[in-house]
Amino acid sequence: MVYDTLNLSKEQFQSLFHATKLINTTERFKNLLNKIMDIAIESVGAERGFIVLKDNTGGLNVKVARNIDQSDIGENVEISFSAIKNVVAGKDAIITTNAKKDPRLKDASSIMLYNIVSIIAVPLLVKGDIIGAIYLDTRTSNKVFTDAHLEFLKAFSEIAAIAIENVHYRETIQKENILLKQRVGEKYSPDEIVGKSKKMQEIMEIVSRVSTSDIPVLLEGESGTGKELIARTIHYSGLRKNGKFVPVYCGGFPENLLESELFGYKKGAFTGAVEHKAGLFEEADGGTFFLDEIGEVPVSVQVKLLRVLEEGRFRRLGETKERQVDVRVISATNKELLKLVQEGKFREDLYYRIKVVKIFLPPLRQRKGDIPLLAHHFVRRYSSGSKNISKKVIQIMMEYPWPGNIRELENVISYAVVMSRGDEITEKDLPSELLQGTDSNIPESLNLNILEAQAIKNALRLAKNNKSLAAKALGISKRTLLNKIKHYEIFS
Ligand SMILES: Nc1ncnc2c1ncn2[C@@H]1O[C@H](COP(=O)(O)OP(=O)(O)OP(=O)(O)O)[C@@H](O)[C@H]1O
Ligand SMILES: [Mg+2]
Repeated sequence: MVYDTLNLSKEQFQSLFHATKLINTTERFKNLLNKIMDIAIESVGAERGFIVLKDNTGGLNVKVARNIDQSDIGENVEISFSAIKNVVAGKDAIITTNAKKDPRLKDASSIMLYNIVSIIAVPLLVKGDIIGAIYLDTRTSNKVFTDAHLEFLKAFSEIAAIAIENVHYRETIQKENILLKQRVGEKYSPDEIVGKSKKMQEIMEIVSRVSTSDIPVLLEGESGTGKELIARTIHYSGLRKNGKFVPVYCGGFPENLLESELFGYKKGAFTGAVEHKAGLFEEADGGTFFLDEIGEVPVSVQVKLLRVLEEGRFRRLGETKERQVDVRVISATNKELLKLVQEGKFREDLYYRIKVVKIFLPPLRQRKGDIPLLAHHFVRRYSSGSKNISKKVIQIMMEYPWPGNIRELENVISYAVVMSRGDEITEKDLPSELLQGTDSNIPESLNLNILEAQAIKNALRLAKNNKSLAAKALGISKRTLLNKIKHYEIFS
């Protein structure tokens, strides 16, 4: 029998089993150490005891103590440390039945002082490395520890050491996780959203209100206006900030692929489904799901989406079992969704479901007052506060139409910071498109960039998004058209 090989009696083996169960159900570090201490003392009838653990620098620290006053600990460190040091050095347990006469402890004057009779000290070993030790002694009772006690404690300390290591590891990871979450959260705090314009102030007011609820929010706005930034800010300043923020870009997926991404699938549900896979909705359980470019979701998937949004229920592809999730949904679009509804491309019921609160993010050219603030904000970020912007540059920026909105402004600044030599960013550091047609007397509506982008959008719409037809109508090559679509970040 196993307990024979451990040199334990049947009773001891049973108490070991019981002890294992006790410490395996303890989650918190401090509680675990306390439990280990109690079991160790009780199992051998010790009077006093303590546990030391090694810290990062290899120093030994007393973590819990029993019947040793806090004020005694200093002195006891000396007593015990002779015993403990022996344990640590030899990585082996020691037992002494007559502490006063034990040559190994002869430098421990406190043995006399404290009348210690018998000592047991066992190492806490993990994979052969010593992480600490358990110390136990008797004084007044004149009780003497036996080899049977030692055997039990040796077996117990093996289990205890692994439990300590596991809980310690888990707590470290948890702490790190909270720290990381805080850091990510800080990056998305409302303070990082720049904008003093009336429109931005109104938006921030709504953001702070919806953050503390689970209400579905739809963010509408051109590319680069900050939809994702706002979505993340709502998540990280809301009730679900310790849950995940899971973004999914709905555009550009073939129909089935989007469905399997969102809902997951059962092994064998289709060719290539070699394993079971959880969908993104499951990943977002307890957190926030961000449906980016929701206008791109095919009608067939919209039905399933509606169901999750209404009841939190869905099925993985190929599965009959229903699953339940608790997610908050934020959606974004750079199209006018209502128009898609009218055209029959977007379900009306889904539209009303997701737009309980609709936030429209105006293009930068409609909140020009924010341009200097944003420019300074990005210069500070990209130059770590070491550079300035000339007045002339700000003036040029105020006149530029920013078809790519804040993302374009951010890119321009990061480019200019790299290009500029001195402390100040000047006109010559700007990319060429900003320097064209910057005469302030010309009204913005005449700006070639705006006109060109508008012409392209019109052509694409009339050509029902057929790029070759649109290019022909515009009198340019398809290749040029594609470049311009990319340049103006036009999403069709
Ligand atoms: N008000 C703001 N203050 C500071 N930075 C901003 C602001 N709005 C947007 N940004 C920054 O501009 C960039 C673009 O924003 P974001 O990705 O949120 O835009 P988007 O609307 O999701 O664009 P797209 O439709 O192209 O995906 C990001 O780097 C974001 O941090
Ligand atoms: Mg986005």
